[in-house]
Amino acid sequence: MNGNRYKSTIILYDTLISIITITAFLHYVSADDATIMAALAKSLSSHPSGWVGPKPCKWQGVDCDSSGKISSISLPSMSLTGQIPSNLNQLSNLKSLHLQNNFLSGPLPSLSNLASLQDVNLDGNNFSSVPRDFLSGLTSLQTFSINNNSNLPPWIIPETLKDSTSLVSFNAGKANLVGQIPDIFGSFPSLQNLRLSYNNLTGSLPLSFSNSGIQNLLLNNQMMGLSGTIDVLRTMSQLTEVWLHVNKFSGPIPDLSSCRELYDIQLRDNFLTGVIPESFTKLPKLKTAMLQNNVFQGPQPGFSNGVQVNLGTSNNFCNPSPGPCDPQVTTLLEVAGALDYPMVLAQSWKGNNPCQNWIHISCDVKGSVTVINFAKQNWFGTISPAISNLTEIKTILLNDNNLTSTIPDSLTSLKQLQLLDVSNNNLSGKIPKFSSGVTLKTTGNTYIGIDLPPNSPPGSTSKGANNQSRAKNGTNSSLSAWVIVVSVVAAILVVLALCYAKKRSAKYKWVNGSELGNSEKENEARKNVKSTSTSETPIRSSSEKIDYHVYDGGNIMIPIEVLREVTNSFSENNILGRGGFGVVYRGQLHDGTRIAVKRMESNILSNKGMNEFKAEIEVLTKVRHRNLVALHGFCDNGNERLLVYEYMPQGSLGQHLFHWDESGLMPLTWNQRVTIALDVARGVEYLHSLAQQSFIHRDLKPTNILLGDDMRAKVSDFGLVRSAPDGKYSVETRLAGTFGYLAPEYAATGRVTTKVDVFAFGVVLMEIITGRKALEDSLPDDQTHLVPWFRRLIQYKDSVRASLDPTLQTDEETFSSIWQVAELAGYCTAREAQQRPDMSHVVNALSPLVDHWKPTLEEEESFGVDFNMSLPQALQKWKANEDTPSSSSMFTSDFYNSSN
Ligand SMILES: Nc1ncnc2c1ncn2[C@@H]1O[C@H](COP(=O)(O)OP(=O)(O)O)[C@@H](O)[C@H]1O
Ligand SMILES: *[C@@H]1O[C@H](CO)[C@@H](O)[C@H](O)[C@H]1NC(C)=O
Ligand SMILES: *[C@@H]1O[C@H](CO)[C@@H](O)[C@H](O)[C@H]1NC(C)=O
Ligand SMILES: *[C@@H]1O[C@H](CO)[C@@H](O)[C@H](O)[C@H]1NC(C)=O
Repeated sequence: MNGNRYKSTIILYDTLISIITITAFLHYVSADDATIMAALAKSLSSHPSGWVGPKPCKWQGVDCDSSGKISSISLPSMSLTGQIPSNLNQLSNLKSLHLQNNFLSGPLPSLSNLASLQDVNLDGNNFSSVPRDFLSGLTSLQTFSINNNSNLPPWIIPETLKDSTSLVSFNAGKANLVGQIPDIFGSFPSLQNLRLSYNNLTGSLPLSFSNSGIQNLLLNNQMMGLSGTIDVLRTMSQLTEVWLHVNKFSGPIPDLSSCRELYDIQLRDNFLTGVIPESFTKLPKLKTAMLQNNVFQGPQPGFSNGVQVNLGTSNNFCNPSPGPCDPQVTTLLEVAGALDYPMVLAQSWKGNNPCQNWIHISCDVKGSVTVINFAKQNWFGTISPAISNLTEIKTILLNDNNLTSTIPDSLTSLKQLQLLDVSNNNLSGKIPKFSSGVTLKTTGNTYIGIDLPPNSPPGSTSKGANNQSRAKNGTNSSLSAWVIVVSVVAAILVVLALCYAKKRSAKYKWVNGSELGNSEKENEARKNVKSTSTSETPIRSSSEKIDYHVYDGGNIMIPIEVLREVTNSFSENNILGRGGFGVVYRGQLHDGTRIAVKRMESNILSNKGMNEFKAEIEVLTKVRHRNLVALHGFCDNGNERLLVYEYMPQGSLGQHLFHWDESGLMPLTWNQRVTIALDVARGVEYLHSLAQQSFIHRDLKPTNILLGDDMRAKVSDFGLVRSAPDGKYSVETRLAGTFGYLAPEYAATGRVTTKVDVFAFGVVLMEIITGRKALEDSLPDDQTHLVPWFRRLIQYKDSVRASLDPTLQTDEETFSSIWQVAELAGYCTAREAQQRPDMSHVVNALSPLVDHWKPTLEEEESFGVDFNMSLPQALQKWKANEDTPSSSSMFTSDFYNSSN
């Protein structure tokens, strides 16, 4: 009995306690928050210990405010799995949410309208979807971080983020962001950190960055690449660290002199051009500047001693060490600078002599620039007054661009000037007074000749402009008729000019555009034409004759007489080599430019030869790259067909590998060999992916790899290139190429993909390592074919060591490099095309072997930098392959670490 009563007392007592607890609990935390927390506990499949019972304010990692509502949830690195319930945003007083470095999956919780939320960290989880109103109404948000959530579907940075006017940090590296960076940065007066590396953001830097207080701007390694200029950095005076590497930014480095706190700037692997401004090298706090793999020009920048700099080897500085460029180079760069340093110029204008194959520039025999031909480039910008420093210039063609501002007065001082064509631009202002010897073309510039008083609307013509504007109106009213007339006249002129060119004897100097105007008669004619120049009749165009033979570094039809002359009538002494389609001769133009003339044997010019010939011209006109041999021009003279190439003084890789002894050459060192391999890989990578269109070489081999005096290599002989259709699907084509280098699937089916070149490249690597030819009939049967023999070798390091080219001197370090190349050669020649790496992988694998530079600073940030990356495109392909362990183990794959 007693016992019973005792028991019921206990029960009563328990009930009482419960009631008290519940009452207290009701006071302590609102029922809503408790329900949500219970749901959260339930939805985490492994919730933290202690997450039971009705008092969430007491739970581990949970805090409540004085009103008893949940203010903070902090569960970092607890190996949590499961999901976050979608109603988390009903925790109306939540200030801080830390769930980083767990295994949370499922949809991200909507955080919308959590007006107290200040601090969110969701880094390093496995969330798989983004709710639509994820980040709206977060009016107190200060730091937001969602790095390293690569399982998210592609999502865009929501514009609604601009409600978060107190934002200090926004971090979303490797979170699958796509689309543009929204232009909302006028809304964040306190923003200091914006870290969006390793996503697929595209478009340009938003203008609202300007005057923002961002200090830490990390936008590196976007898959497709951010593009446009980096001009906006100029006004971002708080910047300390700027990572823009591995993107597609273009244009010059702006004046960064107001960024006085900047200490770390990473610009490598973009398409930046222009002269590196002194304001940049003199930044007071600068510690690290990575500039490699761009197309910078001008003097090598000199940084002070404490600065860690990488300029790489692929920028086009005028000299190999700091110091001023040749005055003509300085001037031309200033001219290019007024056009924001166009990419084509940056790629072609190498070295310190504008007379050596600079595109759009021609020179006279004495090495003075006589022609600038920037016609029809659609360039924007202005005409630099510095042109007047090119005192020997005769022809300046700037027509059909989008140039603004005025014609500089300084041009009137040019004594030799004969033609200045600025027609069809947006130039304005008064036309300077040129001497009577100058033909001036200014039509198609709406506001030119109108000497506007400052700030008056362009429409009120002043007296002096009457002629001009009348001509203008006439042009506009019958535009289409004009187009027809002009095209017909132009066509006739082309025909005339070509005939004329053929008739001209060996005296013809085809590099020098003005030569055609030499005779007195022509000068007379031109003067007469000039006097009627404002009337704009088609007759006036007769002076255009002089334009047609302007050699501008582009392609040109070259008369056979010229080629005969420069090769001394195709003399035996000038033979450089013989190839499948004919003999290659050496020649020298009047301006000193050395060329190689490839003369097709006439009996070989069946349809096949002709098709190759045309294919080669067509492709080479589109393709320009520092690792591809440039085509200067061609000649098609009935049954003679010739191609004129840039001269490669050191001949072919084949000679240096296999015939060095009989040619009196030194055998190549290992360093030279890897450097050559990387050059070739870059050239082929460009063919595959960087040209506007994708191309497959199809005949890669050592005789098609040519060397310059610096022993840097360029790929040649595109006669067999067939343009790959979009998306690089395989095309079935007639079998072409050379035995020993043919990929098995190509030999068997004739189906071509870019992987055919990868295979051939692998064979070349094997030749570089062993010094043996792809096919060597003199060897025993099991060694005749290099590929199967070598692939057997690479199963054992020692057998590779025993089969190296005997001329290679190998210490351990060298052998380790050789071994890596040997493995790469193995991958490249995999039987299955899909198992071969892309050319961009190959570039990545080879670059560290060539470029010995290593960073010495410890990484401070959470985004590890991979200094081996060489091209923006590489990442895209790399990432596409990241999941296949075989390919990622081949290359540095640990490029992104999350740590906090
Ligand atoms: N641009 C060049 N500059 C210097 N030498 C060249 C050039 N082009 C070709 N040669 C020489 O002529 C040889 C034959 O060239 P090519 O006809 O292109 O070879 P193939 O038909 O075997 O591919 C090359 O191996 C090289 O020695
Ligand atoms: C992430 O989630 C996906 C399903 O969405 C699953 O297949 C994968 O294994 C998860 N990864 C980790 C590391 O938990
Ligand atoms: C990156 O985004 C672009 C569209 O902007 C898309 O075409 C491309 O497929 C994306 N790349 C990857 C790897 O997701
Ligand atoms: C052009 O010449 C003038 C005077 O000779 C000189 O001051 C100026 O720096 C030169 N400009 C360039 C771009 O070379």
